[in-house]
Amino acid sequence: MPLETNDNTGHIPVLAPQVLELLTPRPGQICVDCTIGRGGHSTQIAQRLSPGGHLVGIDRDSQNVEHSRELLKQSAPKNVTWNLVHANFSELTDVLAHLNIDKTDLLLADLGFSSNQMNDPNRGFSFGATGPLDMRYDLGQELTAAQLVNTLDERSLADLIYQNGQERLSRKIAAKIIDRRRQAPIKDTMALAQIVRSAYSSVASRSRGRRVPRRIDPATRTFMALRIAVNRELDCLQHLLHQLPNVLQPGGVAVIISFHSLEDRLVKTAFRDLDRSGQAKLLTRRPLTATDDERKNNRRSRSAKLRAICFESRTSEPVMA
Ligand SMILES: C[S@@+](CC[C@H](N)C(=O)[O-])C[C@H]1O[C@@H](n2cnc3c(N)ncnc32)[C@H](O)[C@@H]1O
Repeated sequence: MPLETNDNTGHIPVLAPQVLELLTPRPGQICVDCTIGRGGHSTQIAQRLSPGGHLVGIDRDSQNVEHSRELLKQSAPKNVTWNLVHANFSELTDVLAHLNIDKTDLLLADLGFSSNQMNDPNRGFSFGATGPLDMRYDLGQELTAAQLVNTLDERSLADLIYQNGQERLSRKIAAKIIDRRRQAPIKDTMALAQIVRSAYSSVASRSRGRRVPRRIDPATRTFMALRIAVNRELDCLQHLLHQLPNVLQPGGVAVIISFHSLEDRLVKTAFRDLDRSGQAKLLTRRPLTATDDERKNNRRSRSAKLRAICFESRTSEPVMA
């Protein structure tokens, strides 16, 4: 199977050669893919664990878990065992305990959303088409973006958009949302995108025709902020990072790919602290990013940052008094 696996919904795994080079999966090893998604990375990893290795794939999205299950049934070597689990990677220790796995050799987390989630209007992640304001990775979860947009008070909404989206017009956008929802609940992605754009155009019209250069749709940051909040993405990542020293074998490698600066900051800080405390060694002093060719072929790769760390091999066991 080629490295640039492209499934039927257009998801291309990012930085795949770099992931494989840093993890260097070997026969007999255990690898945990915390975000198996469409199985793009994991199908490549499974080939290299043969013979005798074991793959654990986790995802919050049961549809992605089922897709990857079918893929692995067809493509995983018969002498590699695997378990796929519909779970949140913030519960990693419990997931592994349930599978009777004490520690893993390798761990991958390719954060955020997969292309099929973004491209499906019914999931509500994108303002490219009309869909319900949903944004849940796990469709069993109760909280949706519509609930946040229609129930938070103005200040909480502004703070959420500012903190998770780094959106400088957060107060204006929150005021417009409150204004609009007094008439009727805001139910779909297009309606929300229009409200955000109207906050931008009212600022532009007050700046007397001076054009503020814009590289992205004004709705981008607000949508990102809501997605992060609905899925508690930063909390979950923080929980995962805390568990790494307990779940990785001595000599084990963790690779994390992030897609926005808030995530990357958490990974960078956690890895730096592990390195400074002598528990692990950084394998990437600076984050790896996509080559020009990958950027051209895969838009998602443009914001990807990969960091890797290796847990220290124990040279001598602690002496018991
Ligand atoms: C970028 S995609 C992974 C793509 C995968 N590496 C591949 O090559 O097909 C991210 C996946 O992580 C899942 N996800 C996001 N947050 C999660 C969490 N806290 N726990 C488990 N899965 C999560 C999403 O549902 C999505 O399927």
